[in-house]
Amino acid sequence: MCIGSLKYKDETWDLQNADTKEYTHCFHTYPAMMIPQIARKLLKTYGVEGGWLLDPYCGTGTSLVEASLFGMHSVGCDINPLVRLIATAKSTPICLSTLDETLNKLNSDLFQLEFGTGKIPNAPIPDILNLTYWFSEEVIKSLAYLRNRIKDVEDKAVRNFIRVAFSEMVREVSYTRNGEFKLYRMPTNKLDDFNPDVFGIFSKKLNRNRNGLAAFLEKRKGVETSVSDANTVQGELPMPRPLGGYDLVITSPPYGDSHTTVAYGQFSRLAAEWIGLPNARKVDKLAMGGQRSKETLTDSPVSSAIEKIRSVDKKRACEVSAFYIDLERSINSVAQMLSSNATICYVVGNRRVKEVMLPTDAFIVSAFHQHGFTHKATIVRNIPNKRMPKKNSPSNIAGQTSTTMHEENIVVCQRTTHTCL
Ligand SMILES: C[S@@+](CC[C@H](N)C(=O)[O-])C[C@H]1O[C@@H](n2cnc3c(N)ncnc32)[C@H](O)[C@@H]1O
Repeated sequence: MCIGSLKYKDETWDLQNADTKEYTHCFHTYPAMMIPQIARKLLKTYGVEGGWLLDPYCGTGTSLVEASLFGMHSVGCDINPLVRLIATAKSTPICLSTLDETLNKLNSDLFQLEFGTGKIPNAPIPDILNLTYWFSEEVIKSLAYLRNRIKDVEDKAVRNFIRVAFSEMVREVSYTRNGEFKLYRMPTNKLDDFNPDVFGIFSKKLNRNRNGLAAFLEKRKGVETSVSDANTVQGELPMPRPLGGYDLVITSPPYGDSHTTVAYGQFSRLAAEWIGLPNARKVDKLAMGGQRSKETLTDSPVSSAIEKIRSVDKKRACEVSAFYIDLERSINSVAQMLSSNATICYVVGNRRVKEVMLPTDAFIVSAFHQHGFTHKATIVRNIPNKRMPKKNSPSNIAGQTSTTMHEENIVVCQRTTHTCL
């Protein structure tokens, strides 16, 4: 298994000026989203028209949307219920006239409430942890009204579409600090001046997303897409399982456990609770590396790095190890579902812990090698515009940071030998 000569930097993959908000990609921000043009470029080279694509950590569904535009059926999994909702809404065709009818009625009601004599009617307030710490009384009233109003939208696809705009707005009208993934509140002296226009922000997002959807509907091919809550780490396999297996995987797994890298759960929690999604507070625990493991990794490309970390911090070494054990389990499940000539494309970052670099790219190559895959290439790209942390604290001392990731690797392997189907 050779990785050295197949790993190279290619600046054409930096995609510095790419419009990352085309089509339904404009629907909702999320940490560490994949740039659509990466999935698009990979589909151009490795896609199989009419074939099946799998994204085992689909997040907001970037590769599912691109698969629909290319002409592949696709299935995505994620343990985060909020992104399952977003990925579903982004890839589901909706009848535009039904949507427009609902949006026109909603917008005119909101206009009446804002500029007419209307008072916002009282609506039930959901049970949300520390609600008044995160939202002003006025914002709570408006959100409760909208939540109640959305509940009554009959068409499920339209309701999901509206919920996604609601979700992104919840973060913006809350007291959370802008530009943070974790739940941090803005400074107390800023709270009094923070009076967001809830209905205005919501209407703008609905309109933006409606235009993105129209562009998507024009270009998408007639393919199937589904989003599943199967956890491949636990050996759960998503449905449907295409005959002969999936042809292509395009995915970007987490860089490490949510507690010490990107807190997907914290990012999503308030919106997920307002919408009433299950497990809203458990995402970071359910995510890869979220639970300690008694197993140890032996003879793996990350083993020596983990030993170096262990020599300075045993607890961190266990956390890092738990992540790779989960990643390997997930790859074992994913490999079972792939066709005899499948291609996998994993976009991964080699993060640093305690100043030690973890070669996640080599780990992926090695894990797929066990399942009959040959390494084709590892393309190294600069990260110019992805929303993710570029610094971490190696010492966990506030203010002491070191650069973690300015680059990421696109690992490509192809199956050339046996298949487990
Ligand atoms: C880098 S993000 C994916 C972003 C996605 N490509 C996009 O463009 O939105 C990684 C995702 O992995 C998910 N995740 C973590 N552990 C998982 C697991 N065991 N099974 C499925 N998804 C998981 C996280 O919830 C997160 O959404």
